[in-house]
Amino acid sequence: MSDLYQTIAKSNVGRTILKSVNLPLPVPLERYQHGQTSFITGNVLLGTTEDSRIKQAIESTLSESDAMVYTSAVTAGDEVKFKSLVFDATTINSSDELIKLYEFFKPVIKRTAPNGRIVVIGTPPEGADTPQQAVAQRALEGFVRSIGKEVKKSCSAQLIYISKGAENQLTSPLRFVLSPKSAYVSAQIIRVNKGSALPKEFDWNKPLKDKVALVTGAARGIGESIAEVLARDGAKVICLDIPQAAQPLETVARRIGGEALQLDITAENAPAEIAAKLKDMGGADIIVHNAGVTRDKTLGNMPEHFWKMVMDINLTSEERINDKLMEEKLINKNGRIVCVSSMSGIAGNFGQTNYGASKAGVIGLVQTYAPILGKEKITINAVAPGFIETKMTDAMPFTIREAGRRMNSMSQGGRPQDVAETIAFFSSPASSGITGNVVRVCGQSLIGA
Ligand SMILES: NC(=O)c1ccc[n+]([C@@H]2O[C@H](COP(=O)([O-])OP(=O)(O)OC[C@H]3O[C@@H](n4cnc5c(N)ncnc54)[C@H](O)[C@@H]3O)[C@@H](O)[C@H]2O)c1
Repeated sequence: MSDLYQTIAKSNVGRTILKSVNLPLPVPLERYQHGQTSFITGNVLLGTTEDSRIKQAIESTLSESDAMVYTSAVTAGDEVKFKSLVFDATTINSSDELIKLYEFFKPVIKRTAPNGRIVVIGTPPEGADTPQQAVAQRALEGFVRSIGKEVKKSCSAQLIYISKGAENQLTSPLRFVLSPKSAYVSAQIIRVNKGSALPKEFDWNKPLKDKVALVTGAARGIGESIAEVLARDGAKVICLDIPQAAQPLETVARRIGGEALQLDITAENAPAEIAAKLKDMGGADIIVHNAGVTRDKTLGNMPEHFWKMVMDINLTSEERINDKLMEEKLINKNGRIVCVSSMSGIAGNFGQTNYGASKAGVIGLVQTYAPILGKEKITINAVAPGFIETKMTDAMPFTIREAGRRMNSMSQGGRPQDVAETIAFFSSPASSGITGNVVRVCGQSLIGA
């Protein structure tokens, strides 16, 4: 999991050499540290207007941070660097008004600090009042994805589409994209709809207090990190993994004050066993389908058992477990289901017809069930990791590994924590307006972009 290239790039001599041969210089990502109270610090430049329906929601969210908020770059002064540039584009009604993006960002884009955040907030084109507004709002995607490739220095750019009437749901996604929790997320489009109001005593530092979560594949890698982060945020976590992984599974569960459940999710009785466990716990609030495997071969050379195993673990088991838990009403009201897809499910990958199909199926699962589960006030979303530094990626041949690490806007691999933080964001009671979303955790990978 060591990134030798990044270590070299951190030294003065290394930087000089890499720069001279035009190689990328990755800026280390700032990640959330436990106990960090403000979701953003530093200077924020906010572009909004009096007639905006979200002005108040943005301002009240920013007022909960330690950031210094400016509404004019001139007032801030020429020397000031901005940790974030937040632009409210909801009042853009036609393509000629897109010039407002240029007018806001052009003078200040070079003043974005390392690990900075570009955030554009718009209205979903499908919810626009006029065809002209829909066209202009759709254009925001291209702007954000392009600026994400330009800003460098491990900065990110995101677009939040907030539906009309969902203004009170803006806080959770805005906090997430501004905070170090979204360190390896860039060029993503988050769609937010109406949701429930937050409980009055909600604690942003312990958002999952009193929640019960199930995480599959929790003995190591990304699953271990998901279990840790959900526990850090206050959840009681049931860590599930295969019996062969009993020892590391017990270690993880003990460390985070959770419980271990040894089970192969493809076993016929797995849904019933999970249901029995969750019944004892009073139902589950959060289900994270993380367990997944690869069995790579080009289709012409792929044995049938490779196909079946990958499909069974990565997709069919998730469907069977969800069906059972829904049938037995074991996902509590305001529950959350989060699935782990992959870039392969979006872009496809050589030698991964089985894996790519299973992970695209996971996206299908999320999009199909979002409206169905919405009737029960349950959300379902997916993360699609890119190159994440785990034992799996460490075992890749050197050249493929290096290509995977560098071919993204941040010129480095992500960490399991980056995926886990995005899952925790979807799992939060504050994210009730977010369902049917697929957020890539890939540093804006060039693959499938
Ligand atoms: N590492 C990456 O770069 C990357 C990229 C994209 C997607 N993903 C996805 O993220 C998830 C986690 O990946 P990882 O890199 O941590 O992998 P990993 O191999 O390190 O961990 C997977 C865990 O799932 C468990 N598991 C496998 N089959 C199981 C079964 N039948 N029942 C119960 N548990 C089972 C394994 O024992 C293991 O503990 C997977 O779904 C993977 O496809 C990973």
